[in-house]
Amino acid sequence: MILAVETSCDDTCAAVVDDDGRIHANVISSQGIHDAYGGVVPELAARAHAERCDLVVADALRTAGITLDDVTRVAVTRGPGLVGALLVGLQTAKAIAVARGLPLVPVDHLDGHLLACTLRPVAFEPPFVALVASGGHTFLSRVDDPDRIEELGGTLDDAAGEAIDKGARLLGLPYPGGPALEALAAEGDPEAFAFPTGAKVRGLDCSFSGLKTSLLYRIRDLGEAEATARRADLAASYQRAVVETLAVRVERALEQTGLDRLAVGGGVAANGPLRERLGALPAAVAIPDRSLCTDNAAMIAAVARFRPALAPEDVAGLEAYATGQRPPAAASAR
Ligand code: KG4
Ligand code: ZN
Repeated sequence: MILAVETSCDDTCAAVVDDDGRIHANVISSQGIHDAYGGVVPELAARAHAERCDLVVADALRTAGITLDDVTRVAVTRGPGLVGALLVGLQTAKAIAVARGLPLVPVDHLDGHLLACTLRPVAFEPPFVALVASGGHTFLSRVDDPDRIEELGGTLDDAAGEAIDKGARLLGLPYPGGPALEALAAEGDPEAFAFPTGAKVRGLDCSFSGLKTSLLYRIRDLGEAEATARRADLAASYQRAVVETLAVRVERALEQTGLDRLAVGGGVAANGPLRERLGALPAAVAIPDRSLCTDNAAMIAAVARFRPALAPEDVAGLEAYATGQRPPAAASAR
């Protein structure tokens, strides 16, 4: 049994997953304290993790019906993320590993989003093209096996989730913007406004900064009363542009790699219209349950099945990292 801890942003998460990728518990405690600030406040996130991390771990063990005696490995998110937040999870995981003499497996958060689809019941197997679209990162990879991941493209500016959150904010919606934007968009017409999808950016990279600016100008041009009256249409058209931006790159990646298997992960993969659009592609498409798309610890355990544990003498010195560790996309892939 793998016990995994994930505290990279504002959700305190712990999960219990077995070596076959079956989830026995997946506890996610959303902090809900950042809404008033319109974004995550790192210091507040770290303090909230410190307060609840032990409780969340205990909850995961209880839900799985096991004790620490049944745990055989401990997995933890090492980065990328907010360093203060990551440190809480790292200290928790290190303490459990050292006290119980258990192997500790450090895991990259983005690998978690990439390989969430390998968990049961989806149990998707490589090779596949993977799209990860989250609040902090957006990229396409080719996964030949869990240890052989090659980045094909990324974003030139904002991540897809960031674009969604910023657009939602312009429309006066609360943080995080994704679920609120999706709900408002459901009442609107996605074809009411034409927003750019960065189609001119060739290759597998995407760009969202033009889209965001275009929404800003559109709201300004409409004037306050009209923009308010047409909020749902603006939301639906904006969401459609984000979905299309991603979908076009996915289509190109499938074509370029010759693969007909696609995995999708990251918080934005919780979006209904994106799931529908990608699900209709002529490929075998794996999109995990919404709770496994947004941040969670089960996906961290999923990766730990394929990664080596640290040597015991390296556990104490294990540090967090704030930014991605991936090499840039291969030049040949562009
Ligand atoms: O993967 P994630 O939970 O955290 C990061 O690693 O960043 O992704 C969070 C992002 C946020 O930008 C949030 O607005 C977006 O995922 N998101 C959604 C939806 N649910 C969450 N975007 C669109 N539609 C949703 N239903
Ligand atoms: Zn994430």
